[in-house]
Amino acid sequence: MGTNAPSPAPGWWRRAVVYQVYIRSFADADGDGIGDVAGIRSRIPYLRELGVDAIWVTPWYPSPMRDGGYDVADHRGIDPRLGSLADADALIADAHAAGLRVLIDLVPNHTSADHHWFREAVASPPGSPARDRYLFRPGRGDDGAEPPNDWGSVFGGPAWTRLTGPDGRPEEWYLHLFDPSQPDLDWSHPDVRAEFESILRFWFDRGVDGFRIDVASGLAKADGLPDVAGREAGGGDPDDHPHFDRPEVHAIYRRWREIARGYEPERILLGEVHVSSPDRLARYLRPDELHGAFNFHFMRGAFDAPDLHAAIDETMRSHASVGAAPAWVFSNHDEPRHASRFGRPMTAITTRDVDEALPVDLALGTRRARAATLLLLALPGAVYLYQGEELGLPEVMDIPAALREDPIFFRTGGEILGRDGCRIPLPWSGTEPPFGFGPAGSVPWLPQPADWAALTAAAQAADPGSMLSLYRAALRLRREHPGFDGEYFRWVPSPERTLHFEREAFLRCALNLSEAPMPLPPRRRPLLASVDLERELV
Ligand code: GLC
Ligand code: MG
Repeated sequence: MGTNAPSPAPGWWRRAVVYQVYIRSFADADGDGIGDVAGIRSRIPYLRELGVDAIWVTPWYPSPMRDGGYDVADHRGIDPRLGSLADADALIADAHAAGLRVLIDLVPNHTSADHHWFREAVASPPGSPARDRYLFRPGRGDDGAEPPNDWGSVFGGPAWTRLTGPDGRPEEWYLHLFDPSQPDLDWSHPDVRAEFESILRFWFDRGVDGFRIDVASGLAKADGLPDVAGREAGGGDPDDHPHFDRPEVHAIYRRWREIARGYEPERILLGEVHVSSPDRLARYLRPDELHGAFNFHFMRGAFDAPDLHAAIDETMRSHASVGAAPAWVFSNHDEPRHASRFGRPMTAITTRDVDEALPVDLALGTRRARAATLLLLALPGAVYLYQGEELGLPEVMDIPAALREDPIFFRTGGEILGRDGCRIPLPWSGTEPPFGFGPAGSVPWLPQPADWAALTAAAQAADPGSMLSLYRAALRLRREHPGFDGEYFRWVPSPERTLHFEREAFLRCALNLSEAPMPLPPRRRPLLASVDLERELV
């Protein structure tokens, strides 16, 4: 391992390639079937060879794991199944020594129901100050039997659960925009604000380079918690949704940016911001707010020329209006893997159930995913890769119900399969499960398909035509070619259903989204292609 410590170049995040580590499914060093911090440490050489600049590690905190760790019981520790604080410190040190920065996940919208604040709140009678850190309300209707308002949980069902008092009688309701095991915090409470500022500092002081902020557009709720009905349907004033993208959230991020800026080098804040348009997104990226936010608008579009062209244009325009760099992404731990998505007739992400009903042409999806990789890495801005996409992993659909863990599956009565299919433990080596994910004989927490031997990192490293080899080559090119240095971008006229653009130093990206062969631009030497050009261009 080398010792090229991260350079203090200003604005490194503007063009970084960040690799998302979904910790439970990355690498299992101790053989309990669950990926862990020591597993990540053991794979630093792989990440370095892949050529990424940073990792983002999904929540590693003590948690009952009702939502894969996005239900945090203690923000200043590591779940014992995943490691210890000493392991986290060692990972940060090893990563830095290898020239990799480390981002971790902050979950500020809610805590776990096992968090000591929530336990204290539930143990205290209605009206107690301990309840004010969350959103407890009396119900509506006779005996308060109806939820306080009409808000729905993102995971299905109502966003409210009613408590039972010590005498066995039903009492107040509490809000959870996600699972009932994830009660929402009340961000108008000073304790909540102070606590999260302290949590930021706790991890920044340990050397973490930044945070990915979960549900970043959800923290503020409208006074009086008014019903949603009528607002969503009619479009309405975007500032007036009662719990998403409210204007009050921006003050929180301005404060956090001050804290991040107080560190040397500056720490970064990256938002998971689901909003209705690129312009709404840009509001989070003003110079005194977040450093970046995932480009979900781009991710959700279809993989075709008009959608991609429009999404790229809107991204450039909206981000330029606030001087921010885009953060391009095709996959993460919440979405069906794009090698499968792109193999369906409808490539846009709509509702997961429609998607899942359609057959997948994986050869087509993989061919498109290869082209998508070169597009992603050629665009100006940062890129977020999700573990396993560099292996071309497909979405796994046939997980037995008894082994599924995603609360979406349970809260929709199995109607939506949920996100387990993109969270299958990675295949590293060997010819049968656990494929090097854990020691021989260990049993991964979700079953790996028996036919993944050809998809292991070891098998692909030995094959110059593999997805892994393409990612490595593309990342190397991105590091070495001067065309990727700046943020220059210009469309170049091209045949129908193709997209051509130019970066600095005459670097050109030519993407063919049609079924017909695309002539290469004249007088140009191909640097890298997603297909075997000699075989395809006879
Ligand atoms: C975010 C996470 C997702 C989680 C949810 C609730 O959307 O990415 O995995 O379930 O927040 O914390
Ligand atoms: Mg383990």
